[in-house]
Amino acid sequence: MIIAPSLLACDYGRFADETKRFDRSGAEWLHLDIMDGHFVENISFGPGVVKQIRPLTKRFFDVHLMCSKPEVLLEPFKQAGADSLTIHTELGDRAMELIWKIRSMGMKVGIAVNPPTSVKELEPYLGKVDLVLVMTVNPGFGGQSFIDETLPKIQQVAEWRRARGLKFNIQVDGGIKFDTAAECARAGADTFVSGSGLFAHRNLKQAVTKMRRIVQASDPALADLQCDKPSLALA
Ligand code: DX5
Ligand code: ZN
Repeated sequence: MIIAPSLLACDYGRFADETKRFDRSGAEWLHLDIMDGHFVENISFGPGVVKQIRPLTKRFFDVHLMCSKPEVLLEPFKQAGADSLTIHTELGDRAMELIWKIRSMGMKVGIAVNPPTSVKELEPYLGKVDLVLVMTVNPGFGGQSFIDETLPKIQQVAEWRRARGLKFNIQVDGGIKFDTAAECARAGADTFVSGSGLFAHRNLKQAVTKMRRIVQASDPALADLQCDKPSLALA
């Protein structure tokens, strides 16, 4: 299991301190939500911020590109120290080439699907990615409520992974709190992004530990997947 606090929910006046707080929390990945004001109706931060915080932790940087033109951002995020880039199925025909490009640049690659988009759109990419991100809210803003209707999509992706003997991580993102993380784990998710559900806690380490325990209790098999070298989980 991987817990990935989203920096979108941190105190923007203190990116450095918040990254150090994440580093001490025991969470494996830092989830970095990149919003361009076009693909989604919000703007977050860019490669400049990621480059500044990169020296503050050795942990895995999981970059989620909610951007209409990811092609212009691949190299800047590689240079900034991203370990993984996730793009969206909603980009249509361009997604496959982007996946190939990201991999050829030596980074891990993920494919995301928004709540209104059919889960079937993921099928062509399943054997080509390290991570499948099932969005559990409509992307753009932190602090939204989990959409229950996304649970069958997680189950479907988990079923495809099992039936085809694939190894990608199944990530959920949006409205993930202690209770919804457990529901997603039961549906087959193993990688949990949480912004307001974790960063809002004064003691981030305690919150991460609690989420891990709750998820483990709901699906003990996930305990075996725990590791502090995220690349192993993605191998
Ligand atoms: C949603 C982002 C999420 C966001 C989740 O647009 O992709 O990663 O940070 O925030 P919470 O956990 O607050 O819903
Ligand atoms: Zn995200």
